[in-house]
Amino acid sequence: MKALYVKTYGCQMNVYDSARMADLLAPLGYAPTDAPDAADMVILNTCHIREKAAEKVYSELGKLRKMKEARGGKMMIAVAGCVAQAEGAEIVRRQGAVDLVVGPQSYHRLPEMIAKAARLGGQVLETDFPPEDKFDALPAQTHAGTAAFLTVQEGCDKFCTFCVVPYTRGGEYSRAPQQILDEARRLVELGAREITLLGQNVNAYAHEDWTLARLLHALARIDGLARLRYTTSHPRDMSDELIAAHRDLPQVMPYLHLPVQSGSDAVLEAMNRQHTADDYRRVVGRVRGARGDLALSSDFIVGFPGESDKDFEDTLALVRDIGYAQAFSFKYSRRPGTPASAARKQVPEDVKAARLEALQSLLTAQQKAFGQSCEGRTLSVLFEKPGRKRGQAVGRSPYLQPVHVEGAGDLIGEIREVKIVEAQPNSLKGVLAQ
Ligand code: SAH
Ligand code: SF4
Ligand code: F3S
Repeated sequence: MKALYVKTYGCQMNVYDSARMADLLAPLGYAPTDAPDAADMVILNTCHIREKAAEKVYSELGKLRKMKEARGGKMMIAVAGCVAQAEGAEIVRRQGAVDLVVGPQSYHRLPEMIAKAARLGGQVLETDFPPEDKFDALPAQTHAGTAAFLTVQEGCDKFCTFCVVPYTRGGEYSRAPQQILDEARRLVELGAREITLLGQNVNAYAHEDWTLARLLHALARIDGLARLRYTTSHPRDMSDELIAAHRDLPQVMPYLHLPVQSGSDAVLEAMNRQHTADDYRRVVGRVRGARGDLALSSDFIVGFPGESDKDFEDTLALVRDIGYAQAFSFKYSRRPGTPASAARKQVPEDVKAARLEALQSLLTAQQKAFGQSCEGRTLSVLFEKPGRKRGQAVGRSPYLQPVHVEGAGDLIGEIREVKIVEAQPNSLKGVLAQ
């Protein structure tokens, strides 16, 4: 047996890819470990979305180089994911301890790359977008959690002016529905009760005459699959049919991550989001019309080039209008090769920091208010794992909040009605409702 250590950065698609890489290496005798210094193979599955995320990789590689030396070189180091795709050649040049560099579209080739590196002893780089379908080459899953991820769509054609994804993940590609349905059935056989469909633009899913809505209807017919989610969606692709699925399919959870980035029309335009703030308000209104108990989350960027105080005020106004259950917010980060990075009117760091603080305090207050609005309600909870205390279990509400429940220790994998007794900053406490 050889030990495999995988460290994952970035989005859920990377989490999915990391699991698939582990599946792929299992037949070669690699078993997962959580101790990097004892690993025969280390994979860093990286993210290029912001500068900080990308920088982390080089510092992590410095540490790994020392571990590799301490083991007399008996450790293979692979860099996968979006940094590998964007700056593979630079990784090879800057860090000689790296053996393999593999992009998100080519990781199914890892076994041959490992053989090649072992045979030739040099660094092996694979970052072309290969002609064959990665998903056809991957082995079937061998384990699944109670809540599983399933990538249905990859890449992006939208080219928001701040974003690297169209370059690191390539153009939009939707997997064949039969392949997705087979994989979903397999995950359910392995114990999954909930599946989150993943894609950079998951609601743009399109394969022949299949749409995301049609896919959700087909998945909802799988016995034992109790909950469906999908992420991340673009406001422009919230079709009537998809909105209707929120009304018609009880399996589709009443929670939607719908990034807006900014509440200013001028900034949205400069970002090439191709919708206005009011378009977004209307889309949210329509989804809420289909599903009254819908809760929302979003992503925001502050300090995009040219963003004025007034633009930022418009973002705060939008947040107040919508009312989010949860959200992510980031300072704009200049990414090499993207149009916005070349804009002349960059916003100073201290202004970005102040705006981020103001936005986050508003979003935190909304998250707290949402948590408190759950107190006294009865919510369905899918139990995922034992809690820290004996007999306790932790599950997720329909709104993805962790819920801690005493006396639910043997209910892992099951869904129960839970009366919420207390909201904490990032979780809820509840009791089983009889
Ligand atoms: N496909 C998704 C977003 C993927 S990236 C969508 O269209 O919404 C996840 C989030 O990272 C984005 O929503 C955005 O808020 C943030 N992000 C992307 N590029 C960024 C950059 N250059 N600087 C700061 N945040 C960025
Ligand atoms: Fe990036 Fe925009 Fe595509 Fe989302 S839609 S992945 S933010 S380019
Ligand atoms: Fe990061 Fe790549 Fe995901 S850049 S956010 S890991 S698609």
